[in-house]
Amino acid sequence: MTSPNLLTLEGVQTHIGAYHILHGVDLVVLKGQLTMLLGRNGAGKTTTLRTIMGLWHASQGRVRFGDKDITALHTPQIAELGIAYVPENMGIFSDLTVKENMLLAARSAKNAQQIDDTRLKWIFKLFPAVEKFWNHPAGKLSDG
Ligand SMILES: Nc1ncnc2c1ncn2[C@@H]1O[C@H](COP(=O)(O)OP(=O)(O)OP(=O)(O)O)[C@@H](O)[C@H]1O
Ligand SMILES: [Mg+2]
Repeated sequence: MTSPNLLTLEGVQTHIGAYHILHGVDLVVLKGQLTMLLGRNGAGKTTTLRTIMGLWHASQGRVRFGDKDITALHTPQIAELGIAYVPENMGIFSDLTVKENMLLAARSAKNAQQIDDTRLKWIFKLFPAVEKFWNHPAGKLSDG
């Protein structure tokens, strides 16, 4: 990646059906920084994130991840590149256990033993309920 930008949106326009929602979004996310997208209700924050993730496709403009043009890629390909999206409704599988949900999200682990132990301990410390409910349906966790 030679670009100093992690993510770049240039003149992104998104239509949802007959509705023209995004009218030319320019956004730069720099490497190693936390970037926050603020706006009033209905301004287009979620639509912007969904367009980055390929859940909607830009009708005009470009989305770049580093140097790579990801505008026309499909969501699984974008996820494979390392972009993740946590939707407001969490998007967890409530009937699967917490462990099974974590395994689905862990990119390189094929079983629970392969989940990075240090990272898991860090998660358990931050969210003790994740450890407590490890083998219980994830739907039992509180939203918080
Ligand atoms: N599936 C859809 N069909 C039609 N219009 C939609 C759809 N999804 C979003 N919109 C419209 O697109 C505009 C932007 O919505 P979006 O959800 O991106 O805003 P937001 O900034 O995330 O708002 P909020 O702060 O309420 O989460 C709104 O006018 C919304 O009604
Ligand atoms: Mg939203």
